[in-house]
Amino acid sequence: MSFGILDLVAGARPNFMKLAPVVRALEARRPELEALKLDWRIVHTGQHYDPGMNGVFFSELGIPKPDVHLNVGSGSHGAQTARIIERYEEHLLRNRPVATVVFGDVNSTVACALAAVKLGIPVVHVEAGLRSFDRSMPEEINRIVTDALSALLFVSEQSGVENLKREGVDDEKIHFVGNVMIDTLAHELSRAKQSDILKRLDLNSEEYCLITLHRPTNVDDPAVLKPLLELVASFSRKLPVVFPVHPRTRKAVKGLQFERFLEVNPDLKCIPPLPYRENLCLMANAKMVLTDSGGMQEETTFLKVPCLTIRDNTERPITVEMGTSRLVGNVPARIQQAFEDVLSGQWPQGEDIPLWDGRAGERIAKIFLSGVI
Ligand code: UD1
Repeated sequence: MSFGILDLVAGARPNFMKLAPVVRALEARRPELEALKLDWRIVHTGQHYDPGMNGVFFSELGIPKPDVHLNVGSGSHGAQTARIIERYEEHLLRNRPVATVVFGDVNSTVACALAAVKLGIPVVHVEAGLRSFDRSMPEEINRIVTDALSALLFVSEQSGVENLKREGVDDEKIHFVGNVMIDTLAHELSRAKQSDILKRLDLNSEEYCLITLHRPTNVDDPAVLKPLLELVASFSRKLPVVFPVHPRTRKAVKGLQFERFLEVNPDLKCIPPLPYRENLCLMANAKMVLTDSGGMQEETTFLKVPCLTIRDNTERPITVEMGTSRLVGNVPARIQQAFEDVLSGQWPQGEDIPLWDGRAGERIAKIFLSGVI
């Protein structure tokens, strides 16, 4: 490893819990960093900016304040991605790092990878190789492009290794290190369990269902979203439902003029997006989780909580092959059947997933310090 600084880039909510264990693992090896005259800094693109989607995760997860903030905000995919490229490039020209480390599959990931690689700066991708094989998903495009640009690819599950090899990535660039998101979960679980969120929401453990929805395919089209919300409302007559509503979904629901209906049903608790530990506490104690979030598919698998994944495909197949997640699509009849299956105990128990052991960040730090870049 050459002397210098590593840029650790985060922009949107799911990036923060992936970055935290890498920061912790690098800091645990501070003497080695110093011997190599190597350091790191956090670059926040500002893709997510609402306090509930952003600042709260930094404080809870003990992530230091970003050293650089690009303040890009929202926009169409093209506009947002372009703004990040432009502003990150300006930063790179002034403060060249030895490598740019990007996480996951959001627009900030691909944009910073592009800006860096065009200046000859090596890109490191954490959570590489995942493929849904559905190019209508913006995240799939971000994954393919980022991996193609990366010099070093850290993979969370075996399918990722196979996907990268099939795409012709050299073996020596690929490192199967495990899942950094699970590192954060394992680190936070005991504290999360002490949260009083169940009490505040008047819920009993294993007697409620947690739902989150934010993917464009589920929330942007009223013909899809309205039946989904009606179904969720019908579930709440059998089992209380907690629904932390993502800003994108909140906007879509407003458009349907459905908000009042959601708010007058006491067993359907629509609340703002939750801080990390409260969400984890709700997941760990839920009877089941309904979600279109990739991260929550993984987290419920680790927690062995039934997860109805409201998608037709997943880039995280291990959660279905070995875990507690099942793909139920977004058509109400199929989701209804799966809901009944969980209630009648017809759901897989799930197994432990290889290398989801809370130590992925340590493996990544070790590789950084081995002189590989
Ligand atoms: C992004 C990621 C998605 C990830 C999700 C987690 C991409 C392509 N998508 O989707 O992979 O699962 O984050 O949340 O990067 N908004 C706010 N406040 C905020 C952020 C967003 O109100 O702090 C609103 C804006 O109106 C914005 C919309 O939400 O237009 C969508 O935000 P954006 O970052 O574009 O995508 P997400 O849907 O959050």
